[in-house]
Amino acid sequence: MNPRQRFEEDGYLVLPGFKSPNEIARLRQRAEEIVDAFDPSEGSGIFSTRDQAARSERYFLESGDKIRCFFEEDAFDENGRLRAQKSLAINKIGHAMHDLDPVFDAFSRDVRLGEVASEIGLERPLLYQSMYIFKQPRIGGEVKWHQDAAFFDTDPPSVTAFWFALEDANRENGCLWVERGGHRGPLRERFVVSDGTASLERVDPTPWPTTQTATPVEVERGTLVVFNGMLPHYSGPNRSSKSRHAYTLHAVEARARYSSANWLQRDGSELPLRGFP
Ligand code: FE2
Repeated sequence: MNPRQRFEEDGYLVLPGFKSPNEIARLRQRAEEIVDAFDPSEGSGIFSTRDQAARSERYFLESGDKIRCFFEEDAFDENGRLRAQKSLAINKIGHAMHDLDPVFDAFSRDVRLGEVASEIGLERPLLYQSMYIFKQPRIGGEVKWHQDAAFFDTDPPSVTAFWFALEDANRENGCLWVERGGHRGPLRERFVVSDGTASLERVDPTPWPTTQTATPVEVERGTLVVFNGMLPHYSGPNRSSKSRHAYTLHAVEARARYSSANWLQRDGSELPLRGFP
């Protein structure tokens, strides 16, 4: 089976050794610098006021064309001060590093990524989103079953995820679990924004797969996992003493109609959408 057939059959593709230790080290260092430079009082850290939920929602919803840091839920005390070291309380960085930061840009626009994209049949993928996920030792939480297409609704469905293991990912530190072939099922949920408020809507009653039928995607550092945006997946909590850093990109086909209810909108943004070289 060639890579395209494998991708179409399973809904995902595992490419070990895709990124070199050097490329990974540069990205990790840059992420560390971004976190170091971040002032928690800027937004997500404000936990003492009554409108905290509204504020953190806005902080998230306005991050589509910015570089922002997001912290673990319990990272702040009632005075909005970090309980732990910033570098251990950070949950992720999002969502436009690939367009705003030269190091992230270079990592994300690797010529070989364009080759992978065409190999699996993508026509003109546009990079909408980047996320650097820390999955901290012991506190890195579970991410429940979902389909990434819930966040990038297009007609026809077209979102593809590129997931890079920046560290070994296994069952102990919260690797990905997928429903192999599950991308042929329906879109179950849609994350929609209306009047500045986001909500997750159930659009199809098909139940989520069970843990028993899920396949763990245990991979070594440097592996690229490409998956169809319709593929149901989750990741377990990190119960280990090691972090599980990962970097993800989400690409949408230029020809597909992008829903105006999606949270991430680049229309009207100064930042033009770009694909791979
Ligand atoms: Fe996901």
